[in-house]
This record gives sequence, structure tokens and C-alpha cells, in this order.
Amino acid sequence: MNTTVTCIAPVNIAVIKYWGKRDDSLILPTNDSISATLDTAQLHAKTTVMISSDFKEDRIWLNGKEEDIKNTRLQNCLKEIRKRSQLSGYTNDWKICICSKNNFPTAAGLASSAAGYACLTAALAKLYKIEGDISIIARSGSGSACRSVMGGFVRWYMGSDKNGTDSLAKQIVPASHWSEMRILVLVVSDEQKKVPSAIGMKRSIETSQLLQHRIMHVVPERANKMQQAIVEKDFKNFAELTMKDSNQFHAVCLDTYPPCIYMNNISNNIMNLVHSYNDAVNDVKVAYTYDAGPNATLYLLEKDVPAVIGILDHFFPPFENAIEYRRGLPVEEIKPSQDLLEKLKFQKYPPGQLKCMIYTKIGDGPKYLNNP
Ligand code: DP6
Repeated sequence: MNTTVTCIAPVNIAVIKYWGKRDDSLILPTNDSISATLDTAQLHAKTTVMISSDFKEDRIWLNGKEEDIKNTRLQNCLKEIRKRSQLSGYTNDWKICICSKNNFPTAAGLASSAAGYACLTAALAKLYKIEGDISIIARSGSGSACRSVMGGFVRWYMGSDKNGTDSLAKQIVPASHWSEMRILVLVVSDEQKKVPSAIGMKRSIETSQLLQHRIMHVVPERANKMQQAIVEKDFKNFAELTMKDSNQFHAVCLDTYPPCIYMNNISNNIMNLVHSYNDAVNDVKVAYTYDAGPNATLYLLEKDVPAVIGILDHFFPPFENAIEYRRGLPVEEIKPSQDLLEKLKFQKYPPGQLKCMIYTKIGDGPKYLNNP
């Protein structure tokens, strides 16, 4: 006898960043964080889990390659699932097979662990008939994964319990609340991260004074202001807080010793272009944010997409061998006027090239493709 569940789960992009753990093995953060869950249509992890009395051992395949099931984070996730399982005693002891893959090329250089662990958790939770919060289980695989088990805008509360029972994610608003919000992911490099997040944040905790300041004096107030901006659909405040938080996160990375340098010249050029564009139109129309890598994520409203794409195409055309360039992108774009180009002082920006541009919106969270 066997039972199978297949699930797809989204990527999320933080607007208030998680960086720093107070407990490395339980993955407990040093501050709250807030993110938007992206639509699964463009970017998702897809996971099938199967439980069977015939299986001799637990096994896992990632993107077609068998991986070590003994991986500590994976084991933490599986232990938590079996502890909370509602299956009858002997069925609970059956072994499982896990098959997971991303629908975006690994070469796109996009973080996949959040979508991957959220997907694994959601699939296993269904298989083992687990009820209630599952974000804690996803967190035991990768911190940011706890925000991908639900849709819309999500806040991960750091909690105070030393066992992490209150370090969980809650939805602030569903995707439908701010349906005009759009996201452009600008893939500028497909290189692997130089310093993985877990190592980078450990180093920051050990060496960065700025991180201590951020944890104590910046994020608590900023996270509340961000939540308010989201609830009130106040784009200007949302955008400014998003950019400031990304900048402070990267300042912390530079304040870390030895420093973690995640952004490159093209990332910096995109950042400058966003500020020049906002200045030129005398408003805040676009916000950027960068995770632990050089790729930019832009937040903007649907009405501003054609003009922004026109600008991006002008300054950051695709590489000749760009991978799946313009996934999900609308065709219309507005060519920037000479007047605007002059205002942008474009000669200041050396041309950059993009590997790929992904256009998406806020999504509803994991979806099940079959029901046992
Ligand atoms: C910069 O969730 O990848 O993307 O908990 O060690 O797995 P682990 O780290 P991870 O860190 C994500 C860091 C970030 C910011 C964020 O997503 O909030």
C-alpha cells in the first residue's frame, strides 16, 4: 500500500530582512522579518512525497539527483513531521521517498531553499494529516522557508521561547489585499553565492556591531511601520522602508569581518537607476531589494510596469545567451522619452546586461496537485 501527495510552493522575497540567528540549530532569528509570497505560476518548487510499507529506507531526490537523506536540516524537518503525525502508529513508521524540483533553471541564481523546504513541509503535512501551524516545521529546514507556507504578505515573528515554539509565520494580508502589486526579478548573475546565508549570518552575529544596532534599535519599529504600510496600501512608505532595509542588510554584510559582498556593479547600477527614476518622476514608483546575492527584486504597481520595463530595456538589455529571458513579462512597454533619459543622466550608468527578467505578482501560497 502507498499514499502520494504532490505540492507546489512559492518563493518569497523579504522586504524586512532576516539576518542573524540566536540559535543556529533550531533556526531562531534575532529579529522579525516580513516578505511577500510570489505567485507560483512563474517560480516554484514542486515536491512529491510517497509513503509505503515497501520502502526500506527514507530517500530524497533534488532536481533529479539523489541527495543525502541524513542532512541535518532535512532530518530536523522529518523528525518534527513524524512527531506531529496523525497517522496510526505502524503507518507512521513506514519509510518515505521525496522527489523535488524547481521550475526555474538553477542557473538563474535564485534562492530555492525557501520554496523547497516550504514545499516539502506542505506535502508531508498533508501526507501525515498534520493540523495547525506548519511554519515552525518549515523553519527547521530553512528560516526563510517558514514565510513561504502561506500567501500574501507574511510576518515571521522571532518569538522569545528558547525552544522556538513561538517563532512562527503569520499572514498579514492575503494576496488579494494588494492585487495591483507587481514584482520584477532581475537576474544579473547565475554564479553561486560566495558565502552561503547560514555562514554569512553567523559571521555577522560574531563580528558586526551594526547588526546589533539593527536588531535592537531599527527592525522592531521598522517592521511595525512596514506592516502598517502594507495594511494601508501605502506604496511610498512601503517602497522607502523596503529599500532602506535592503541597504542596511548589505551594510551589515560589509560591516561583517571578513565582509560578505553580495551585490556587484550591475546590482549597484540598478539601485542607482531606481533612485534616478524616482527622482525624475518626482515620486516613489519603484523599490529594489537584494538578498544574499547580486540579483535585484523590484516592487512596483501594475500601472507603472510598462514605463519601468522601457527604462530597464534601455539600460539593461539581455545577454545574448540570456536564459528564458522575460518569463511572464507583458509585451507592452513604453520607450523612455529623450527628456526622461536626459533627466536620468544615463551616461553615468555603464550599460549592464541581464541574464533573465521575471515578471510576477503576489501569490496565494502552496497548492496541492492531488489529494490522498
Ligand atoms: C538574505 O533562510 O536562506 O534571504 O535560515 O540559514 O536557511 P537559513 O537562511 P536563509 O536566509 C535568508 C536570508 C535573506 C533574507 C530573508 O529572506 O529574510
